[in-house]
Amino acid sequence: MRELTSGRVHLREWRDDDAPFVLDMCSRWEVQRWVGAAPRVLGGLGDARATIARWRGHDDGLRGVWSIRRRDDGAPLGTLLLIGILASGAELPLQPSGETEIGWYLHPDAWGHGYATEAARLVLDHGFAGGLDTIIAVTYPENVASQSVCTRLGMRHEGLTDRYYNMTCELFTATA
Ligand SMILES: CC(C)(COP(=O)(O)OP(=O)(O)OC[C@H]1O[C@@H](n2cnc3c(N)ncnc32)[C@H](O)[C@@H]1OP(=O)(O)O)[C@@H](O)C(=O)NCCC(=O)NCCS
Repeated sequence: MRELTSGRVHLREWRDDDAPFVLDMCSRWEVQRWVGAAPRVLGGLGDARATIARWRGHDDGLRGVWSIRRRDDGAPLGTLLLIGILASGAELPLQPSGETEIGWYLHPDAWGHGYATEAARLVLDHGFAGGLDTIIAVTYPENVASQSVCTRLGMRHEGLTDRYYNMTCELFTATA
C-alpha cells in the first residue's frame, strides 16, 4: 500500500508488532463507542492482532487501512480507513454498497492536535488521485468530534441516512 506523508503525519501499513498500540487504543470505550454498528472494546493482544489482519485485508492497492504516525518521531497516533461501505439490508452478512467510505480513530492522547484531519486530507487526495469520484463518511448522530473532522475537511453534510450498516447515521460526502 502507498505510504503517505504530510507536514506532521506519516501513514503506512499496519504491522503485527503494532498490536500493543492497537490494543491500547481499541480497549478504550471512549474510542470504541463510536466505531461500527456493534461497538465493543478489544480484550487482549489476540484481538488486536486479528484487528490488524482484518485491516490489512482491506488493501486493494488504492483503498486500505493505514497506521497514522507522527512524522518527526514515528509515534503511533491512530488509524485511517478508506474502505468499501456495506449497504443496509435484510440479508446477513451485509453486502457491499459499491461506495467508498473514509473513517478515522485516534488514541485519546493524540486528540486535539489536528492529526485526524491532516491524515484524512492525505487519504482523500490519494483516493481522488486514484480515480474515486465520491468518498463518503458516516458518523453516529451524537459524534460531534467526528462530524467536526468532516466539516474541517470541507465534506458536504447530507443529513441522516439509514442506507448503510442497518444504522441511522449522519452522512457526509466529498467529491473529486
Ligand atoms: C474523531 C476523532 C478522530 C477527532 O479527533 P480530533 O483530534 O478532535 O480531530 P482533529 O485531528 O481534526 O483535531 C482537531 C482539534 O485539534 C485542534 N488543533 C490543535 N492544533 C491544531 C493544528 N495545528 N491544526 C489543526 N487543528 C489543531 C483543533 O482546534 C481541534 O480541537 P477542538 O475540537 O477542541 O477545537 C477523535 O475524537 C476520535 O478518535 N474519536 C473516537 C473514535 C471516533 O469517533 N471515530 C470516528 C468514527 S465516525
